[in-house]
Amino acid sequence: MKKAFLSAAIMLLGVMAYGQTTLPAPQKNLKSLSVMEALSTRHSERAFSNKELTDQELSNLLWAACGVNRPDGHITSPTAMNKQEIRLFVFTAKGVSEYLPQTNQLKEVAKGDHRGIVAGRQAFAKSAPVSLVMVGDYDKFGSTGDHAKVMVAVDAGIVCENINLYCAAVGLATVPRATMDGAAISKLLNLNANQVPILNNPVGYPAK
Ligand SMILES: Cc1cc2nc3c(=O)[nH]c(=O)nc-3n(C[C@H](O)[C@H](O)[C@H](O)COP(=O)(O)O)c2cc1C
Repeated sequence: MKKAFLSAAIMLLGVMAYGQTTLPAPQKNLKSLSVMEALSTRHSERAFSNKELTDQELSNLLWAACGVNRPDGHITSPTAMNKQEIRLFVFTAKGVSEYLPQTNQLKEVAKGDHRGIVAGRQAFAKSAPVSLVMVGDYDKFGSTGDHAKVMVAVDAGIVCENINLYCAAVGLATVPRATMDGAAISKLLNLNANQVPILNNPVGYPAK
């Protein structure tokens, strides 16, 4: 009994130690390349400078990926039936957080540098200061059937392309990737079998 109480208290302390921070408001009037220019320059880049992104740059990037862009809570990336089932996790040298689009917040879910499990067998991805992992949440989608699998994959691809185009527009380097250690990511993030890492984008300034 005493032991159970103690481990519950330790668990609670662990959870309480995780922070939740509000990001700066995204700069929706940011000067950047036009859509046509961004489409012209978009390409996969696999070498990154170690220059960090500022909180403002991170906020802009996450908002472009799947932030709220209308008063009714709809987001920048369309999703099938507006299920908004793609969850975005942010891996940095400091820790891992989930982006909460509706409140423009980062909810910390793990401490420490876990970019290696996102990189998987492609070590170059570890050098990007930020790695974004798109997790398809079938519980949120409401089905795990064949059709749902296609819809969730498409929705993840759309979030990914928002990231690709945003990066191209502001001169950041990125590459869409399916490679990652999905099992290790699921374990770290405490995901259940219906919450699946689908794609990731390492993001940073291009290497000189
Ligand atoms: C769904 C998807 C998965 C990808 N997975 C990887 C990957 O695991 N590793 C990698 O280095 N590139 C990956 N890529 C990037 C492609 O190799 C790249 O987009 C392609 O070679 C075309 O180059 P471009 O993006 O410069 O046009 C992936 C791209 C897509 C769309």
